[in-house]
Amino acid sequence: MSKVYVFDHPLIQHKLTYIRDKNTGTKEFRELVDEVATLMAFEITRDMPVEEIEIETPVTVAKTKVLSGKKLAIVPILRAGIGMVDGVLKLIPAAKVGHIGLYRDPATLKPVEYYAKLPADVEERDFIIVDPMLATGGSAVEAIHSLKKRGAKNIKFMCLIAAPEGVKAIQEEHADVDIYIAALDEKLNDHGYIVPGLGDAGDRLFGTK
Ligand code: URA
Repeated sequence: MSKVYVFDHPLIQHKLTYIRDKNTGTKEFRELVDEVATLMAFEITRDMPVEEIEIETPVTVAKTKVLSGKKLAIVPILRAGIGMVDGVLKLIPAAKVGHIGLYRDPATLKPVEYYAKLPADVEERDFIIVDPMLATGGSAVEAIHSLKKRGAKNIKFMCLIAAPEGVKAIQEEHADVDIYIAALDEKLNDHGYIVPGLGDAGDRLFGTK
């Protein structure tokens, strides 16, 4: 069963409060999402493997550590996921960035992939999928399928706010994918919005309605 990690760091929780606030405008919302993505990237990379190498400091020879694991790729789910990419890249600037676009089929209400572009060396990389909101989980589950069918083996899912329904959907369909969130909210309302949530993440990020 996939594990769920809630990043309850005070800075993340503080910034998330202003992200949720309906009076926070587009500019500040965007900046805050970017900052929280950076803080979450710091936490999500805690288990990255390191190896010891020998270097010379100006004083002596020393054995010190460098990252040794697979290279990373970040994959935002279009469009709101884009708001989290730069924040993650601040800490992991060499990461590649893939994109996945999904729309909801009006007849089946199921997410359908309309765009997918990933780094060529999918099998050599670890992946972090980013999307601010994990609501029903439909898009997340489909995005993970999309990466897996192209050869991705190690995938993490990172979002700001999750509903229990979305967490359950990933756990049922992708037990190998751990979920990293800043807050686990109460529920979904009848319109599919997370409660209390933050509203429509894409609209608030891009200033659309
Ligand atoms: N997507 C959003 O942007 N907000 C929600 O509350 C749910 C899905």
